[in-house]
Amino acid sequence: MHPGVTVSIWLFFFSWPVINAEDCPPGREEARHEEAKLHKDLLCAYSYEYRPVTDHKKTVTVKVRFSIKYLSFDALEETFTVHSWVAMSWMDEFLRWDPADYGDIKEIQMESHEVWTPRMALFNADATMYQSDLFYTTCTVDYRGTVTCVPHIAHSGICRTSLTRWPYDVQNCTLYFGSWMHKGEQVNFTFYSNQPIVTNDFQNGPDWKLLKITNERLPGVYACCPNDTYPMLKYTFVLKREAAGPAAIVVVPSIVIVLITLSSVLLGVKDNIRLMLLCFSLFGHFTFLTEIGYDIPKHGADTPIILLFVRDSMIVTLTAILVTLLLMSLIKRSLPAPGWMISLNRLLASGPGKYVVFTEFDPNDSSKHKLAEEDGNAQEETKPSTDWIQFANLLNSFMFIVIFLVYFILICVYIPYD
Ligand SMILES: *[C@@H]1O[C@H](CO)[C@@H](O)[C@H](O)[C@H]1NC(C)=O
Ligand SMILES: *[C@@H]1O[C@H](CO)[C@@H](O)[C@H](O)[C@H]1NC(C)=O
Ligand SMILES: *[C@@H]1O[C@H](CO)[C@@H](O)[C@H](O)[C@H]1NC(C)=O
Repeated sequence: MHPGVTVSIWLFFFSWPVINAEDCPPGREEARHEEAKLHKDLLCAYSYEYRPVTDHKKTVTVKVRFSIKYLSFDALEETFTVHSWVAMSWMDEFLRWDPADYGDIKEIQMESHEVWTPRMALFNADATMYQSDLFYTTCTVDYRGTVTCVPHIAHSGICRTSLTRWPYDVQNCTLYFGSWMHKGEQVNFTFYSNQPIVTNDFQNGPDWKLLKITNERLPGVYACCPNDTYPMLKYTFVLKREAAGPAAIVVVPSIVIVLITLSSVLLGVKDNIRLMLLCFSLFGHFTFLTEIGYDIPKHGADTPIILLFVRDSMIVTLTAILVTLLLMSLIKRSLPAPGWMISLNRLLASGPGKYVVFTEFDPNDSSKHKLAEEDGNAQEETKPSTDWIQFANLLNSFMFIVIFLVYFILICVYIPYD
């Protein structure tokens, strides 16, 4: 048998009245100073399970102050976490004493589980993370019965994000606090009258900058129950994304790609550079869309408008390629032009239209002349008809203006700006 067990049995049989009378070894005595006495007296016949009021009709008013330390926000998961020191203060009618009876002690520290504490629940909590509305910390109690606890709590709430203006998006995230089951007549949550929010040593999270916090107390009066209120404390955080990185990756390249498309339309059709540049631009759109597809958060409801911009720009580039192919065939035409085309050309050449049409494909091109001279007059018939070339000029100018306008509108509507 183990020696310890033998000793225990021996002690049990032979000295059991002694142990019962005195739990501690000799020489150890219970602290008898005023603080220990006060602590013991306060908790005597105290129950932390009930509201600390002598009359059940009385309200416990809980003042709340948030001292925000840090916040993080996952826009994809739509969860928003605020780390803060939450100061709560209320009156406990059973924790009062006369300092004169206890060596002039005016304040004492007690553990939060020893006394009644308000359960402040987060209404829009992220339910996938277990968040108790109970807290554990040391509280101070003063002789008038004011209890103050400052637990360090991380609240995770759900925040509906709006990504339309990504990466220059500003998000409003709101946290709603209140008592889960008590009415406002039982436990009334209010703000501290001075400084309901403290942001002195707040640190911004990695991707977000806190612009503003506002607080509001919702009185919680509903038509169903005119005699009861369900007050809520509402904190709204306005966050702005730190956009320099995403802007460099997405916004600037998309403008560059637009400039390539736009400038290639100004080039001549005869040298294939125009077609090559346009094809390069189209290819760039594809690569770019694939690339930013990984970076951009995509929600069905609100797609970032920059994504729509690249999509539309891709369609414009494709159109430009098709029109360029058409122009290439037009300027080689040698058939007689139809009548309507000739009249249209005349109309534009005489009117103010001639200022907008640029003479890209000059019918009297010097290189053509040389060619024609070398080949002799026999080639005269196969020389492209001036009417076709004029019409091609017209079409080209028209396309440039349309593309320019389309891009102007797209940039105004779809490019997010700071
Ligand atoms: C965000 O909050 C501000 C005030 O804090 C308000 O003016 C604005 O309308 C809110 N935006 C949204 C989308 O709720
Ligand atoms: C709760 O406190 C607010 C002010 O903070 C006050 O207007 C309201 O009347 C109080 N409610 C009750 C039931 O005491
Ligand atoms: C609210 O209180 C008034 C007066 O005390 C009472 O007459 C009325 O019936 C109460 N209403 C409800 C819905 O309890």
